[in-house]
Amino acid sequence: MQIGVLGSGDVGRALGRGWARHGHRIVLGTGDPGRPELKEWAEDTGQQVAGFGEAVRDAELVALALRGSATLAVLEQVGPERFAGKVVVDATNPLRFEGGRPGLFVGHTDSLGEQVQRALPEARVVKAYNTVGNALMVDPQLPGGPPTMFLAGDDAEAKQTVVDLLAATGWDSADLGDISAARALEPMCLAWVRYGATAGTWGHAFKLLR
Ligand SMILES: NC(=O)c1ccc[n+]([C@@H]2O[C@H](COP(=O)([O-])OP(=O)(O)OC[C@H]3O[C@@H](n4cnc5c(N)ncnc54)[C@H](OP(=O)(O)O)[C@@H]3O)[C@@H](O)[C@H]2O)c1
Repeated sequence: MQIGVLGSGDVGRALGRGWARHGHRIVLGTGDPGRPELKEWAEDTGQQVAGFGEAVRDAELVALALRGSATLAVLEQVGPERFAGKVVVDATNPLRFEGGRPGLFVGHTDSLGEQVQRALPEARVVKAYNTVGNALMVDPQLPGGPPTMFLAGDDAEAKQTVVDLLAATGWDSADLGDISAARALEPMCLAWVRYGATAGTWGHAFKLLR
C-alpha cells in the first residue's frame, strides 16, 4: 500500500519504518524535510521524506502522527479536499500537561478524532494506534501474546483496511463503533502513560480478553 505518514516525531518514524518492513511504500511528511536526521531515516529505511502535502498526494492510507495541538492546523494547511476518499488513521492524542500531569484538551462530549473527521469530511477517519507507545506499534512482541488495538470510525471498509494492517503486523483489534468512540479511546492513552509512570516501565499494551 502507498502510505503517507504526517509527522516525523517518534510515532511517525516508528510507523513508517515498521510498515516499510512489511513492504508498504512510505512517504514521511514533515514541516521540515531538510532535517539531517530525516535524511538518515530515508537512507536507513529506503523510503521517502517530503512535505506534508506531497505525503498525502498519492497515499491510499494517511496516518496522522502529529502533535495533538498542531493536528487541525496541519490538515488545514494541506487542504481538506486532498484527503477525499482516503483512509486516515488518526494516532494523535489531545494531550496537554498541567501541573506536571498529562490531561486532554478535549473530551467527554467531543474528541480530537471527531474534530479530525469534521475537518476532513470526505476522508474516512479511523482512530487507532493512540493507545500504545510507538516502540510497540508495529510487530509488538509481548509475553502475553498479541495485544489489542482499539479502533473507531464511521466507515466499515476503512476500519477493515486498518484491521487487516493490524493483523499483518502483530495485533488483535477491537472495534468500538463510530468515530464518537474516540471519546473513550483518547483517555486510554492517559491510563497507558499513568501505568508506565507508576510502574517505571514502558513495554506494556492493552489486551481485551473475551
Ligand atoms: N509518542 C508515543 O509513543 C505516542 C503513542 C501513541 C500516540 N501518540 C500520539 O501520536 C502523535 C505523535 O506523537 P509524537 O510523540 O511523535 O509527537 P511529537 O514529536 O510531539 O510531534 C509529532 C510531529 O508533529 C508535528 N508538529 C508538532 N508541533 C507542530 C506545530 N506547531 N506545527 C506543525 N507541526 C507540528 C511535527 O512534525 P515535523 O517535525 O515532521 O514537522 C512533529 O514532529 C501525538 O498526537 C501523540 O500524542 C504518541
